[in-house]
Amino acid sequence: MKRAEVIGYLGRDWERCCARIERALTTDIELLGSINASILEHGGKKLRPMLSLLSARALSSGDGPLSEDSIRYAAAVELLHNATLLHDDVADRSDTRRGAPTVMSLLGGTAAVLVGDFWLVRAVDEVLSAESRRLEVIELFSKTLSDLAEGEMFQLQKAGSDDTTEEDYLRIIYCKTASLFVTSCVAAAKSVDASPQDEEIMRRYAKALGIAFQIQDDILDYAGGDLGKPVGQDLREQKITMPLLGALSSADEKTERRIRAAVRDAADSEEKRSLVLGFVDEFGGLDYARRRLQDYVDEAVGTLSPLRDSQAREHLIALAEYTARRNR
Ligand code: IPE
Ligand code: IPE
Ligand code: MG
Ligand code: MG
Repeated sequence: MKRAEVIGYLGRDWERCCARIERALTTDIELLGSINASILEHGGKKLRPMLSLLSARALSSGDGPLSEDSIRYAAAVELLHNATLLHDDVADRSDTRRGAPTVMSLLGGTAAVLVGDFWLVRAVDEVLSAESRRLEVIELFSKTLSDLAEGEMFQLQKAGSDDTTEEDYLRIIYCKTASLFVTSCVAAAKSVDASPQDEEIMRRYAKALGIAFQIQDDILDYAGGDLGKPVGQDLREQKITMPLLGALSSADEKTERRIRAAVRDAADSEEKRSLVLGFVDEFGGLDYARRRLQDYVDEAVGTLSPLRDSQAREHLIALAEYTARRNR
């Protein structure tokens, strides 16, 4: 997928969405305004509004400009996404994101949480100012917020024990990542008053894609990429993710116990971290994770087959395929 091609295809709708995000953040508090401006400057990939706008296009009959509500919902998911990242960097004590210092590292947790709250509330305002099946969309957003909180807490709980299973991991990544992908695509479907069948297609597509997206993020945490955040962070946070689960699945019980114990001490021990890294390498953890990732990508692409042929649908397919190859 070429990002520029998607943006070119979305044209004015993309510009309207970006302008709406900026406008939503208006404030006369200087400190807040300057932080918002610097976050916007290092804006990230804006994958979720892209998904949202493409979904709305794929389910509309004409090729004309999208409704104001489609734009509002797309802006809202990006605002919400940024709010979760601001909060996540406090939870993970992360210093770097998108190749730049985090708000957390520059101004501390208090500022980062408050700025995150601001972005979150402005996301809600966007939804409240829309009309298309608004109550259902509020429900979607509220479910995602609850998934995010539960997912992060479950992850925290699991980092304190050393018994994360693949089922636990999949639940965590559904909650912390795929749920917002689902809201991005399903809110878009609602904005064009799509049929329940089409809505279900978008829900299944977004769920599989969101899971694939997070698996790739977790692969890159081992393999390295161009993410703009340091590698090896997950292990430092005692997170057991797909590459490690993959390696564990082909180890004997004794080795598994030894490695899981090492993860428990990984936060403060370089030695334990390199033991686990060596193990993941030796037991083919990355290959396993890449296979599981590809399964989800195939599933995402497959779910789109009943949709009518359109450029938007082609871009949604390309986006899913890009997820497996991305390095940022
Ligand atoms: C980062 O998401 C958080 C995850 C769900 C892995 P993105 O990789 O989409 O973040 P930005 O917005 O492009 O920085
Ligand atoms: C990503 O969590 C999803 C969120 C809810 C923000 P991570 O902690 O895995 O994401 P990164 O690695 O900081 O982007
Ligand atoms: Mg996190
Ligand atoms: Mg994090």
